[in-house]
Amino acid sequence: MYVSPYWKRCNLVILPNIFVFVGTIWMQEILPLVLSGGDLTRVQTVVNWDRAPWLEETRLAKVVDKLPSPRALVTHFPYSFMPPSFRTSKAKVVYVMRNPKDILVSSYYFHQMAAFLEDPGTFEEFMEKFLDGRIVFGKWTDHVKSWRNAELGDRILFITYEEMVQDLPASIRRISDFLHKNLSEEVIQKIAKHCSFQSMKANTMSNFSLCPKEYMDNDKSHFLRKGIAGDWKNHFNSDHLARFKSVITKELEGENFSLPWSLD
Ligand SMILES: *[C@@H]1O[C@H](CO)[C@@H](O)[C@H](O)[C@H]1NC(C)=O
Ligand SMILES: *[C@@H]1O[C@H](CO)[C@@H](O)[C@H](O)[C@H]1NC(C)=O
Ligand SMILES: *[C@@H]1O[C@H](CO)[C@@H](O)[C@H](O)[C@H]1NC(C)=O
Repeated sequence: MYVSPYWKRCNLVILPNIFVFVGTIWMQEILPLVLSGGDLTRVQTVVNWDRAPWLEETRLAKVVDKLPSPRALVTHFPYSFMPPSFRTSKAKVVYVMRNPKDILVSSYYFHQMAAFLEDPGTFEEFMEKFLDGRIVFGKWTDHVKSWRNAELGDRILFITYEEMVQDLPASIRRISDFLHKNLSEEVIQKIAKHCSFQSMKANTMSNFSLCPKEYMDNDKSHFLRKGIAGDWKNHFNSDHLARFKSVITKELEGENFSLPWSLD
């Protein structure tokens, strides 16, 4: 698997009682709020990358000990990259799955604005790299397979980006139940309101406006771009669709899980 030098693997020991999130920027907002029972202080005063830091970033070492317990971390690692101490820990995982066609589109724009990633080339070129796993964190199918087959039992919750877009309060309820937080309906609604795309885009601590331009250039493409499901329809033609479907279907042949979306 290709890993860009930026995402240097850090030598880290996972302690019990850490929540790891395989997923999106959205979780860096939702999780701290669920864990704090809806207290907005941290999400309004601490930037998201320090509030729920990335496991794969060297910065983690500087901030991890200062996080309130239980800690929330995020990662894009496949399961095989998790340190051995993770396997025997009690850390819980919320794995956010998203329609791979939308991941491709989102990743294409991210490669345009992130200075530490290769230029994506044309959409066609990028699709081939994506399907071959010649991008950071490798093949999407390998990633999903690794976590689906990880056998973490009740330590892992699978949730889709699409269900979060469709009904955010219900999704927050699923997450809070999974973490054994007994949040009132009022708190769930408050968190959902704060985690809407519009609120996050207007939160300086979450919209990456504090991220230096040399890493991400919001002038090229906004990091928080649309926050919708199904944007692939604006980018795929029928050839792209046929190619994408045939590769992904073949890669998942024989797997004992099915995808919650149609690839058509
Ligand atoms: C959960 O919270 C509600 C009030 O929001 C309370 O009535 C209920 O007893 C609590 N349940 C548990 C198991 O703590
Ligand atoms: C981030 O939020 C601040 C404060 O609301 C706003 O001024 C700025 O334009 C936002 N930046 C982006 C890139 O959305
Ligand atoms: C699915 O298959 C994997 C091996 O590919 C296996 O480890 C796992 O136990 C299976 N899961 C279920 C729910 O059958």
